[in-house]
Amino acid sequence: MRMTVFGCGYLGATHAACMAELGHDVLGVDVDAEKVAMLARGEVPFYEPGLPEVLARSLESGRLHFTTDFDEAAAFADVHFLGVGTPQKRGEYAADLKYVFSVVDELAARLTGSHLLIGKSTVPVGTSVEIKKRIAATGTSADISVAWNPEFLREGFAVADTLRPDRIVLGLDPDGDPDAVVAKVEEVYAPILAAETPFLRTDLATAELVKVSANAFLATKISFINAMSEVCEAAGADVSTLADAIGYDQRIGRRFLNAGLGFGGGCLPKDIRAFMARAGELGASQALTFLREVDSINMRRRTAMVELATVACGGSLLGSNIAVLGAAFKPESDDVRDSPALNVAGQLQLKGAAVSVYDPKAMANSRKLFPTLDYTDSAREACHLADAVLVLTEWAEFLELKPADLEPVVRKKVIIDGRRCLDPAVWMNAGWEYHGLGGTPRV
Ligand code: UGA
Repeated sequence: MRMTVFGCGYLGATHAACMAELGHDVLGVDVDAEKVAMLARGEVPFYEPGLPEVLARSLESGRLHFTTDFDEAAAFADVHFLGVGTPQKRGEYAADLKYVFSVVDELAARLTGSHLLIGKSTVPVGTSVEIKKRIAATGTSADISVAWNPEFLREGFAVADTLRPDRIVLGLDPDGDPDAVVAKVEEVYAPILAAETPFLRTDLATAELVKVSANAFLATKISFINAMSEVCEAAGADVSTLADAIGYDQRIGRRFLNAGLGFGGGCLPKDIRAFMARAGELGASQALTFLREVDSINMRRRTAMVELATVACGGSLLGSNIAVLGAAFKPESDDVRDSPALNVAGQLQLKGAAVSVYDPKAMANSRKLFPTLDYTDSAREACHLADAVLVLTEWAEFLELKPADLEPVVRKKVIIDGRRCLDPAVWMNAGWEYHGLGGTPRV
């Protein structure tokens, strides 16, 4: 099957490479010529484990190409995936749909014959109806059906999540030919569906909502456990054990109950805000007021981390050296968008600390976003003369750190575990002052 994928970011590049891996002829399209050139050379412009290998295989097979040329894309296929970004609008909660609409306008103006446009981006509910209106407004003679097939991939697991998703959701337009659209999409995902992946047919609005409500639920779960950590801290209880204990209840589940610095990245924070904004537009804002609390519990974690570091440094950060281990918003990613770790590093610097940051993969992106911080080439180097070592992203490399690795370089043996990912006993038994964000367990 031939298909295009518009947008070559995390979502689009992964989708394009994985669709070629499934045996399809795929053309990835992006307005960023540099990104397109890199991908065409087999270089992934971001860190995503496993993707370089899939990309290399797909390029070598001759089934995957990239272009910036919309004319070429319009002529290439009759199935078009839409995977461009939907960032938060500057100074507002709402999602900015300018990239989505620009692809729709550019593409519709060039199409002739019958085409299927399948949205994958995370969008406010109602966007596909808006897209239909825009297509009509271009006056195109083409017959363009719109379907919505949200993507649930996690950074760090993007390939596995695309090739072995938990489910496939397909939103269909009742005014079109839903059965014909289902048949096309079943053909696209045939190998995935053969593995008995659940396939849910829905209307367009439900499909759009599935994605944002899933992210809202995940964000709520994280903020729930972080709220519990505040209570645990006040009561002298241990939130990690509490999470284990409630997580055994299968109705609750242990995943996404890791207390600590909270969520960041390009999805959860902006998605819950855009969801609130959209609910407001629909006159249903009351339904999502709890998400405001989810957001503020999450942001409070960053302040709590700064306060913990301040207390550990004797009440003032002026003149202290702080080592920050981790800059990416989570491990196995080089993404620093809304990174809790970098936010904390920036706040510490503003309060007068000299901050040295190390991350295994996110150094280049961090330098671009926070050029004033000091960056080092290793964890050990970041800890040079440190008054406190802060673990803010739970990279495996940091989990393996031993007290003896850092003792020769630090000024004070103080470690603050912002992700509750270290074994407190190991550090305390080696004579370190250990603090866990969300309460230090008694060992
Ligand atoms: C998230 C969703 O998990 C995906 O299903 C979704 O497809 C994606 O957004 C998207 O909308 O595109 P992602 O942003 O890659 O994926 O990252 P997550 O693994 O969800 O982690 C988000 C943040 O929550 C990270 O900062 C992580 O450190 C934090 N987190 C996660 C916690 O603080 N505690 C946990 O227990 C789990």
